[in-house]
Amino acid sequence: MSYLVLCVGAFTVARFLLKTLLVLAQTFVLPGKNLKMFGATEGAWAVITGASDGIGKEFALQLAAAGFNILLVARNEVALTAVAAEIARNTASKVEARIQLVDFAKHDPAPLNALRSVVSDLNVGVLVNNVGKAHCSYFVETVEQEIEDIVAINIGATLRVTHAVLPGMIQRKRGLMLNVGSFAGQVPTPMLSIYSSTKAFLTTFTSALAEEVRSHNIMVQNLNTYFVVCVFSPPFTTNCVLMLMRSQATKMPGITKSSMMVPTAATYVHSVLSKIGLSCGAALSDRPDTLTPYWGHALLDYVIHVIGWKAFFISYFHRILINRRRAQLEREGKQQ
Ligand SMILES: NC(=O)c1ccc[n+]([C@@H]2O[C@H](COP(=O)([O-])OP(=O)(O)OC[C@H]3O[C@@H](n4cnc5c(N)ncnc54)[C@H](OP(=O)(O)O)[C@@H]3O)[C@@H](O)[C@H]2O)c1
Repeated sequence: MSYLVLCVGAFTVARFLLKTLLVLAQTFVLPGKNLKMFGATEGAWAVITGASDGIGKEFALQLAAAGFNILLVARNEVALTAVAAEIARNTASKVEARIQLVDFAKHDPAPLNALRSVVSDLNVGVLVNNVGKAHCSYFVETVEQEIEDIVAINIGATLRVTHAVLPGMIQRKRGLMLNVGSFAGQVPTPMLSIYSSTKAFLTTFTSALAEEVRSHNIMVQNLNTYFVVCVFSPPFTTNCVLMLMRSQATKMPGITKSSMMVPTAATYVHSVLSKIGLSCGAALSDRPDTLTPYWGHALLDYVIHVIGWKAFFISYFHRILINRRRAQLEREGKQQ
């Protein structure tokens, strides 16, 4: 019996040490896959949803700098055209940037069919399913339209765009798909229940799809993301916590700035693109094809999984949101 206990103990310690080593090595030392594997500088395209602002815009700029032609997808034509112009300026027009207008919240098949037809003619090497919408309310308070929009944008858009892009990737036997997930998808988050559940969907969808297409030389990864400050293009629209933090700027000036735990979109996207194919903070945590690339997020992810006490973190995140909301309502002179 004591021999058995010793063996189990030794296994547990060895697994812990291996996990720690893997997280540190992948986060701080090992390089990810070279983007040339997916057609960078060879005329391949990167398709990015939600590319007019924030993280999506930054993916567009950095993938263009890496040598991909870029298809920018979102609703705002002026903003998308500005991003396309910025790409042309930055790359001296060495890559092409096109825009495609789609409102994923609308159940209008025409723009989606147009997108499908455009991508079927392109050599798409990378797809970034970035578009996302959040809320900051108890489920019972959330209006039906908002619930529908979040599901349509966070789940529907990913499924539809992936379905449009995948056949070409399978044919070419090459591709990278990045689904922009969230810590809220790993730890169920009260007051973000719909958002949190849609991001959990992405985790499961990613793992299942990744296995389906691995033999076609296509890589699918769920990007586990904590806060990101998109300093270049305010306002933040998808993350209520950031919105609340931002509105407290006069009280807590530091919190809206980038920090160890809150990188700029540029830093965040750079960490993603330099760690493709690794897991970093998600290493050896039973979440295949999930990547927590940015080092601050990676260490937090590691700690959450080492502690392994989800109920604690659910209630911890709930308390953070309650306090943020209370402060917000107080500033607006309303009662909780
Ligand atoms: N920022 C964070 O702290 C954070 C943390 C974790 C995860 N994430 C995830 O990262 C992703 C990007 O977040 P972000 O903060 O960069 O967002 P953001 O700055 O609000 O940008 C959202 C993008 O999506 C587009 N968009 C919004 N609704 C759309 C619709 N109905 N149809 C088509 N496009 C639409 C917007 O452009 P138009 O207005 O032009 O359509 C914009 O380009 C999201 O999936 C989010 O959940 C963010």
